[in-house]
Amino acid sequence: MAALETILIWCALLGLCIGYYLVPYLITYSALRDIPAASRIAAFSNLWLAFQARRVRRSAAVHAAHQRLGPVVRIAPNHISIASTAAVHPVYGHGNGLLKSDFYDAFVSFEPGLFSTRDRAEHTRKRRMVSHTFSTKALGGFEQYIQQNLAVFVRQWNLKADNANGQFAKVDALAWCNYFAFDMIGDLAFGQPFGMLEKGKDIAELQLEPRGPISHAPAVYLLDKRGELNAMLGCVPALIPYAKWIPDPFFYKGLSGRLGVNAVGTARVTERLQRGTKSDRIDLLARLMEGKDDLGNSLGRNELISEALTQMVAGSDTTANSLCAVIYWTLKSPGVLQKLQKELDTVIPNHDCAPTFSQVKDVKYLRAVINEGLRMHSTNSIGLAREVPPGPGLEILGHHFPAGTVLSVPTYSIHHSKEVWGDDADCFRPERWECLTEDQKTCFIPFSYGPRACSGRNVAEMEMVLITAIMFSRYDFELYQDQWKLRDGFLNKPVECQIGFKKRYR
Ligand code: HEM
Repeated sequence: MAALETILIWCALLGLCIGYYLVPYLITYSALRDIPAASRIAAFSNLWLAFQARRVRRSAAVHAAHQRLGPVVRIAPNHISIASTAAVHPVYGHGNGLLKSDFYDAFVSFEPGLFSTRDRAEHTRKRRMVSHTFSTKALGGFEQYIQQNLAVFVRQWNLKADNANGQFAKVDALAWCNYFAFDMIGDLAFGQPFGMLEKGKDIAELQLEPRGPISHAPAVYLLDKRGELNAMLGCVPALIPYAKWIPDPFFYKGLSGRLGVNAVGTARVTERLQRGTKSDRIDLLARLMEGKDDLGNSLGRNELISEALTQMVAGSDTTANSLCAVIYWTLKSPGVLQKLQKELDTVIPNHDCAPTFSQVKDVKYLRAVINEGLRMHSTNSIGLAREVPPGPGLEILGHHFPAGTVLSVPTYSIHHSKEVWGDDADCFRPERWECLTEDQKTCFIPFSYGPRACSGRNVAEMEMVLITAIMFSRYDFELYQDQWKLRDGFLNKPVECQIGFKKRYR
């Protein structure tokens, strides 16, 4: 009798499992059955994608699947990756109605912010409130703060160069890109840098609760771990509440990362609110405090913290990793640094003065080097997931995608498509930016495209133009990084970038 009961229980469990995986495959997503799957498991379960994210190599795995199977690949039961120019506008464009998928639920801190909210009306309201923060007029006001942080950067690097006595001073460029980008966003968002450039160290203040004690922790490290965990949990949102029970360092490090990043944000917002309006500094928080929706309502305190945190997270490691990639590829590719220095020397005649944005913003080769770095590296290399809304569905490349299907365009793959960029798509060649085809323009999406595209693009570009102009015009470099190791969480991040530098001018 007991044996029969055991058999029945096992049969029931097996039936449940088969039902759980087969019903969606055979019925719910039957329209997707003719699309080749990245692996057998990917057609039945999102565990394949989650596993690739856990190995921090999702975009590489999806890219390999596209190379084997073509432009349309099933990477989870209801998620189709489309590596084609034809998909960019329908999936991300204005007015097409696709919303962020439940992948983004893993990124919610406190409450959904501008980046993580999936609701269209809520997004429009938030975007309208922060839009004046990034207006052209506001951008002009940011330059002085970028220049102040650059002055600290140059002072620190000059000290290192002097101490190296004519030899190349050795540093991890990734670390310094992070110090610069974090100090910048601290300064722009909260009116004060984190102080990483001054200390030459990854360190920030932490506060678990608004009135709690202050401690210190490495913010860059915490953000790395948070991003990797969120990118994995986003593939299996059902796992979010159970993540803390999983006995794997990836999960508990990621959860500490989440907690830590929230605590860094809380410390900065609390400190900034205490300073109140006494300061005449117009930082992002001041602008968020001024922001009003259509009904004239201001942001509540929780929403303010959530939005300030959104800016801090979205504007720091994105810029740092993009910048590091630009440095790496410039130094790795023969002749690029020399050509760049020659062009910069013509517009920066006085090397004792920092160049202004208006002096260097139109240096064509500098822009080409930055764009080519963004293309090659693809900081957001994974496909950003969007869900087909209720209604008739969507037609792309002869496939019909019914409502509820999740679609994404893998950024790394379309940035490296030989059809779009030519046979040298995997080479760093800034000269290709002298004349782009329409397909190349469509496929270049480092800041995404459409209503959910990056709102901080102008700030990021200004920061990158100014720091690369100053670095490459003032110093000579050597690259010591033989292997370019990457970890692909939500962002594609190099592990390190060892370089040497010395002054070009005494
Ligand atoms: C090189 C640097 C940067 C890159 C490559 C980058 C890239 C991106 C991408 C690809 C998205 C879309 C994400 C998605 O749909 O999941 C995005 C969104 C966003 N970015 Fe950036 N970003 C950069 C710098 C910045 C900076 C400096 C800020 C703020 C000062 C910022 C603020 C945001 C915000 C708030 C969003 C969400 C926008 C929305 O959903 O309406 N980003 N960024």
